Amino acid sequence: MKNKIITIDGPAASGKEKISKYISSKWKFKHLDSGVLYRRLALILLEAKVNTNNVFEIKKKINQISTISYRKTKKIRTQRISQLASKIAIYSFVREYINKLQYNFVKKNKNKQGFVIDGRDIGSVVFKKADLKLYIEVKPEIRAKRRYKQLIDSGEKSIYPKILKEIKLRDKKDKQRKHSPLVIPKGAHIIDNNGSFRKTVKNITELLEKNLK
Ligand code: C5P
Repeated sequence: MKNKIITIDGPAASGKEKISKYISSKWKFKHLDSGVLYRRLALILLEAKVNTNNVFEIKKKINQISTISYRKTKKIRTQRISQLASKIAIYSFVREYINKLQYNFVKKNKNKQGFVIDGRDIGSVVFKKADLKLYIEVKPEIRAKRRYKQLIDSGEKSIYPKILKEIKLRDKKDKQRKHSPLVIPKGAHIIDNNGSFRKTVKNITELLEKNLK
């Protein structure tokens, strides 16, 4: 088994990262979180004080970028960056730029067992021919509750209704945008992640064992 591609799509805070990490460690697949790239770009634009209402300014800044880090730091997990990432993700030129980074990532790591890549459009647009596509489904209220707990546990202040509102707003933006909206990719297996992670893992393990021979 070599260079298999598993795509994981789903809305904000649906557990894509936890599921990807599980697959990555159990099957020795390389993990790429495409959301990190949108967040990194948002941070670059924010720090450079680029007016993100002006597409020409965004384009100009993108042309000046030599590399984008894949590192997940606290700095890119803020609400401000979440919203800004979602805002710039509507532009097709931004998506093309991020997609190119993803293709390069896969090309550079050709010797690996395979890849698990998560995001919003991975199975529907970026890797349409993936070996296995998963779509994670969780009710917004449960996602907000989990995110709230995560923030409180990490010592941050958090207000549940605010998180729920923000999650619903991001869902709306991600599902209604013109370019690469969040959809259930053709041929994707729907994973119900409303219950315990143990149940989700059992489901996924069965699917992977059946489909990745
Ligand atoms: O997954 P994460 O919450 O880190 O993604 C941040 C934002 O980046 C999403 O709300 C979405 O707008 C955008 N995104 C996207 N396509 C992807 C990954 C992320 O549009 N493949």
